[in-house]
Amino acid sequence: MRALLDILSDEVRKGFREAGYDDAKITVTVSNRPDLCEYQCNGAMALAKEAHKAPFVIAEEVVGKISGSECFSKAECVKPGFINLHISDAFLASYLSEEAEADKFGLETEKPEKVVVDYGGPNVAKPLHIGHLRAAIIGEAVKRLSKYIGNDTLGDIHMGDWGLQMGLIIAEMQARGMERMPTLDELSEIYPAASEKSKNDEAFKNTAMDITYQLQHGNGKYLEIWRHIMDISVADLKHNYDKLNVSFEVWKGESDADPYITPMVEKMKQDGYAYESQGALVVDVTRDTDAKEMPPCMILKSDGASLYTTTDLATLVQRQEDYSPDAVIYVVDKRQELHFEQVFRAAGKCGIVPEKVRLSFLGFGTMNGSDGKPFKTRSGGVMRLEMLLDEVYEKCLERMKQSGSDIPEEEVNEIAEKIALAAIKYGDLSNEARKDYVFDIDKFTSFEGNTGPYILYTMVRIKSIMRKYRESGGDTSGLRILPPTNETEKALMMTLAGFVPMLCGAWKDLAPHRICAYIYQAANDFNKFYHETKILTEEDDDRKRGYVALIMLTLRILETAVDILGFEAPDMM
Ligand code: ARG
Repeated sequence: MRALLDILSDEVRKGFREAGYDDAKITVTVSNRPDLCEYQCNGAMALAKEAHKAPFVIAEEVVGKISGSECFSKAECVKPGFINLHISDAFLASYLSEEAEADKFGLETEKPEKVVVDYGGPNVAKPLHIGHLRAAIIGEAVKRLSKYIGNDTLGDIHMGDWGLQMGLIIAEMQARGMERMPTLDELSEIYPAASEKSKNDEAFKNTAMDITYQLQHGNGKYLEIWRHIMDISVADLKHNYDKLNVSFEVWKGESDADPYITPMVEKMKQDGYAYESQGALVVDVTRDTDAKEMPPCMILKSDGASLYTTTDLATLVQRQEDYSPDAVIYVVDKRQELHFEQVFRAAGKCGIVPEKVRLSFLGFGTMNGSDGKPFKTRSGGVMRLEMLLDEVYEKCLERMKQSGSDIPEEEVNEIAEKIALAAIKYGDLSNEARKDYVFDIDKFTSFEGNTGPYILYTMVRIKSIMRKYRESGGDTSGLRILPPTNETEKALMMTLAGFVPMLCGAWKDLAPHRICAYIYQAANDFNKFYHETKILTEEDDDRKRGYVALIMLTLRILETAVDILGFEAPDMM
């Protein structure tokens, strides 16, 4: 289905052509003076010089041609040569009815792509902490958006499962004379203890490094312990990500890149891209256009050990072999930007991925506490993800009690969980990913304002109207959206007509915050309409059914949007 703005643009373009002008650059945009009109076209201005005519004269000629159009109820020229447009109510209603009936609201995928989203990136055996929250939330939203757009999409968790933390844990187990495999609880105590010890105990650290080296070179005994740690950690990770409504199609990690490293490095050497510099093996990734210094991309350290860049490049080799993706999107802390720039350049230069593959880095900012510093627990420690979820959940329970809801006891917990998830995710996603933001529990859990709970509250309100409508015998099949009767209703309709273009834009720019801005607008438009309109008590039955059709579409759009963002609305709250 064509976007409303495209249809309107075409209509105005036709007017320009009929009046004898070049229409190549003519577009219609949403008005920046909504008090004057709904849409506008500024095309006459650009044509004036060439046509040797005043823009106003051109605009008048065009208005003469389009005034009979079924799309517009009014088209007028304003000095110096703007064309102000009002969309026709009947046309808007028929457009929305078509949108409501179309699959995916009329979204068409021109060319479905194969997309890999690399997000999550937890480090195995270390506790999941707040730093991993944004990766999970934003990555999941980007992945779901990609799927909705129609792409064949894989989310890969890319665990940090091959590094020094594994050597540290095994070294500590040995130091303690532990004969059996550790439990999850033991693990969460052993790693911090070992990490602490390594800071002061040089010999211990060397042992851990040696074990890491041996593990990476196939030591059977260490591999067995590693596999055990992986099993229990992955089960725990799954449980934690489940709570966040985050899931991955691919559970690979840095360790899976290992077999690809040696052949990759050999080829890089053979092709002459990798060379030795101060004992290390590097690839030069500078470009003539670089304004800033670009350090060479390190492939192997002087002791032959691989690095973070090595595993990321080897992972691209694996992804190319297994999926040949059109795009790979990394959702990672923005402080890793240089790392990814080096990886992308090296991957292109060394032919690891073909030129046409888009490698994108969606770097996110830090989640801060109200003091403006990275979020910590009350006692100042690193906040574990589970603790945060619990805290927000408790707050939501409290709010539900305050608002005096009469929800049956057995459903309260599940509902509070849904609200908590919306509070956390919307609080995060409504900010542009790149920016740091303050995690403010009071604000995020509020049922009013630009928050997740407010969006859910709006959806619950529509669900409740729909329930009453059905209970009173109302039929929901064959409903048609009618032309709006007032400006408030029209505003809601115009917002709903913009859903698919908004989604396409959010995908193109990897900007999930636009989905939040959109649903906030839609929720506000709906609530205004709700307060001004008697929906179920409307006496004219056709009108009433038209209203129901409109709010049903509103709900479906909100449901689709929050599902892309990775949360859902309860039936009551
Ligand atoms: N494990 C890494 C970290 O905690 C994030 C991994 C991101 N993904 C990647 N392909 N490097 O910093």
